[in-house]
Amino acid sequence: MAVSLRPNDLILGVETSCDETAAAIVRGGREVLANVVASQDELHAQFGGVVPEVASRRHSEIITAIVGEALQRAPVTWADLAGIAVTNGPGLVGSLIVGVSAAKGYALATGLPLLGVNHIEAHLFANYLQEPGGTPAASDELLPTICLIASGGHSDIVLVRELGDYQIVGWTRDDAAGEALDKAARVLGLGYPGGPAIDRAARNGDPGAVQFPRPVVSGSLDFSFSGLKTAMVRAFKEAGLEDAERDEAMIADLAASYQEAVADTLVRNTTRAAGEFGARQVMLAGGVAANSRLRAKMSAWSEDSGVPVAFPPIRLCTDNAAMVAGAGYFRACRHGWDGLDIEVFSAMSLAEHIHNPT
Ligand code: KG4
Ligand code: ZN
Repeated sequence: MAVSLRPNDLILGVETSCDETAAAIVRGGREVLANVVASQDELHAQFGGVVPEVASRRHSEIITAIVGEALQRAPVTWADLAGIAVTNGPGLVGSLIVGVSAAKGYALATGLPLLGVNHIEAHLFANYLQEPGGTPAASDELLPTICLIASGGHSDIVLVRELGDYQIVGWTRDDAAGEALDKAARVLGLGYPGGPAIDRAARNGDPGAVQFPRPVVSGSLDFSFSGLKTAMVRAFKEAGLEDAERDEAMIADLAASYQEAVADTLVRNTTRAAGEFGARQVMLAGGVAANSRLRAKMSAWSEDSGVPVAFPPIRLCTDNAAMVAGAGYFRACRHGWDGLDIEVFSAMSLAEHIHNPT
């Protein structure tokens, strides 16, 4: 049952779906009062990727301190809050359990209502958040909106007809865009996390130096990035980089060319979706939305097409809890709160998939 929340109601958001432990306080689903994110990047860098067991252990060590810091920074007390929103999927189950258990504990101890939030929907809502002194990236009134949600685990093109009314019109058949960038960075020896490392290395390279494919899944708006990953392994070998000393100039060219192919592919399908569904606005979300080439290419398309393109500041593209509190506020308004019996889900659908369901 829908609940009526007031415009100044405060929500605590909690996010632990992967390797960021995060808590935030958001007013009225939009205004970010505090946004605390503890990244585990350094912890996982030695393994070249997220180790689930290590991630959940670290979440449980620091979650209480992170929530405490968010309250302190806002600054608010438990008595000031209207509810708690926590990511309960999709994500790493062991990691999700830590955030959801903590949120249940807080709800039980304080009597505050609790809500489970879909991590993908939360990424989308990052576009509606407003940081102190800033403005929201997107308007929630320009509908329909097409939103590209590209992260380490997802590459979805979502048609937003109304807030809460979604249709996934394109998704990835294999790897996510972020995964493809992380893998390429590993091949190039650029470290973890790979997306930002490729973005940095690419600044010194020539995007036209190496020809990478722009994979098409015919008759659909879907993505396929696995072939691109293989092409990078091949190009790395062909450039003789396997046995040779590090050739930074060649590595920069490979990074720039690869990034260009990923960005072109994301832009091609997203802008096609915008045309097909008559979008009045396009939004980018998820960690890959932090990518400088993707942002530049989408901005150029916006200039040409006249369709506004929005993307949140980088710290709101990557995993954070402000987006969870924002999505939670609007979800509670539409569907009401959940009980203390919410579960966690490694996979969780945002909406039905209409193009080529498999
Ligand atoms: O949304 P996110 O923080 O976590 C998931 O929900 O997966 O996304 C993480 C992904 C990683 O694959 C990371 O390499 C990528 O986002 N990423 C980037 C950039 N910053 C983060 N990819 C390209 N360029 C960036 N600047
Ligand atoms: Zn994410």
